Amino acid sequence: MAATTTTATATKVLLTDLASSVNHVPSNYIRPISDRPNLSDVQSSDASIPLIDLQGLQGPNHSNIIKQIGQACRQEGFFQIKNHGIPETLISTIMNIAREFFRLPESERMKSYSDDPTKTTRLSTSFNVKTEKVSNWRDFLRLHCYPLEDYVNEWPSNPSSFREDVAEYCTSVRGLVLRLLEAISESLGLERDCIEKASGKQGQHMALNYYPPCPQPELTYGLPGHTDPNLITILLQDDVPGLQVLRNGKWIAVNPIPNTFIVNIGDQMQVLSNDQYKSVLHRAVVNCNKERISIPTFYCPSNDALIGPAKDLIDNDHPAIYRNFTYAEYYEKFWNRGLATECCLDMFKTSSA
Ligand code: OGA
Ligand code: NI
Repeated sequence: MAATTTTATATKVLLTDLASSVNHVPSNYIRPISDRPNLSDVQSSDASIPLIDLQGLQGPNHSNIIKQIGQACRQEGFFQIKNHGIPETLISTIMNIAREFFRLPESERMKSYSDDPTKTTRLSTSFNVKTEKVSNWRDFLRLHCYPLEDYVNEWPSNPSSFREDVAEYCTSVRGLVLRLLEAISESLGLERDCIEKASGKQGQHMALNYYPPCPQPELTYGLPGHTDPNLITILLQDDVPGLQVLRNGKWIAVNPIPNTFIVNIGDQMQVLSNDQYKSVLHRAVVNCNKERISIPTFYCPSNDALIGPAKDLIDNDHPAIYRNFTYAEYYEKFWNRGLATECCLDMFKTSSA
């Protein structure tokens, strides 16, 4: 049996096709002892992140909801939302499409494979196979999705409704993001269109993350602790727990609530807010028994957008903590350094900060 396992490890490119044939985690997935998930030390759901009801955001509850959003961005960097306007049918459709995609035969999935992070549509594994030392227990399909017409024709055409279903989901999530960006601007005391304007023509990427069951989840990560490099992330997860968020040095499990999304502040929002809002470390752990699917939408500034702290948030008492930079410059640094716990943001601080 050992021989079969070795062959599988050596020849499989995607984790999905390797995981089903091993009963131990292969050595290249094993973290050093000081960098393991320590699952017994994780706090569970009763201390979880705030759940904000968006019902009435455009009406009677407006100022109350803006206040809740501001507080969550300031204190946690993370919140969950319900009554977000994305139909439940669309949520189950996108989840089913993701599940179907990762169940396609290996040869069919491999048509989308690439290890080049600059490709706008690609299936890959781990995080960045070109730069990392230890692999992560994850496969992912990453798609650029705004403007849709620039990318939809390079997406997988199998399952047959993939393009249509994913396009509908992307459009709906973009609507939600634009409402959230207005609300977040307002919560910072800025003009409502301030963040949208600062992000130029904008970009939207999504990932379909697939975490296979793992024989030894204590030894590895689905994704190790990281902050998101973009502006804001809208995460949909299935009913299997795995996401954890760092609060006061403790990892907190964010257990799934059906039909809610998880929203988190990315590095660019931390810069725009001049550190009022926090891009917080989070990670994904895996488990023995169940596959897990998560679908983050990463909303970004366009590559040429000039990012820096919003002018209205800078004064003598609150000097700019970051220099101005283009998003392209930031994003390149992010992918090249790998997922490290020290945030990439430190490289963009002003000399006085
Ligand atoms: C990510 C991420 C968390 C998850 O893809 O950036 O943080 O639960 N995913 O999959
Ligand atoms: Ni993330």
